[in-house]
Amino acid sequence: MFDLYAVIGNPISHSKSPLIHTEFSRQTDQPLQYEAILAPIDGFEVAVNNFRQQGGKGLNVTVPFKLEAYKLSTLLTGRARTAQAVNTLKFDSDQILGDNTDGAGLVRDIVFNLSTAITAKRILLMGAGGAARGVIQPLLEQKPRILAIANRTLPKARELQRQFFSQGNIISGNYLDFAGEHFDIIINATSASLNDELPPLPPDIFSEKSLAYDMMYRNELTHFLQFARQQGVKHLADGIGMLVEQAAESFFLWRGIRPETRNVIEMLKPKA
Ligand code: ATR
Repeated sequence: MFDLYAVIGNPISHSKSPLIHTEFSRQTDQPLQYEAILAPIDGFEVAVNNFRQQGGKGLNVTVPFKLEAYKLSTLLTGRARTAQAVNTLKFDSDQILGDNTDGAGLVRDIVFNLSTAITAKRILLMGAGGAARGVIQPLLEQKPRILAIANRTLPKARELQRQFFSQGNIISGNYLDFAGEHFDIIINATSASLNDELPPLPPDIFSEKSLAYDMMYRNELTHFLQFARQQGVKHLADGIGMLVEQAAESFFLWRGIRPETRNVIEMLKPKA
């Protein structure tokens, strides 16, 4: 007997989650089957209910349903409540537990896989949408010297600063407000890379030793990572590591076992 899990989103055909979780289950000997579900834009709840009726035990939730998953959850983890978004659902009898593993995945990728400490560092987080909100608390838990949030639309960055100011040293501004300042880690949490765009970053925020991290991934370097490279940054990372780490965290929530991630990250990297 296999326990049934899936990733749900729209679009979904590009998702690497089935590959990742199938690899995790093989590696840990867990008897599970993992599928991809394309839900109609206005049909998330119906699709979730159908999946539960088929005996589904848990779902990964991706664009554009993370907010709906948050609202559908009957129980929330602390990190899901802070993120106001859910990327992992676990079904237990009558309860729907909602969790958010994105921030933990990002931090684990930076600290363990990329061997880059966040503690006492200067971090610039670009973007103030759902993706940015989901990673702020886990970043602050690492006690950076400063976490600066840059966004085109200033009130959204200010709102995040207001929400999290009691949890760490957090500031906010427009991109140009940070001109002339150097950051150790610059994280792109905007959706700009999806549209082949580049946030209006001042070039001098990088130093040669900075880590430039794009939460998006594609087969070639994103515009942001190309820009960082042009500025002399050598340490570049895309969101493949975060994707695999957030999946491992979901797998742990469902199965109580933490799978190895390094070989799966290697497997997903585009071959040169
Ligand atoms: P998500 O859930 O992926 O974060 P979102 O909530 O729509 O999506 O937020 C998108 C984020 O990307 C916003 O911070 C947006 O900036 P604005 O708030 O100013 O709109 C940012 N973004 C999108 N395209 C961008 C671009 N070309 N340059 C800079 N920021 C961009």
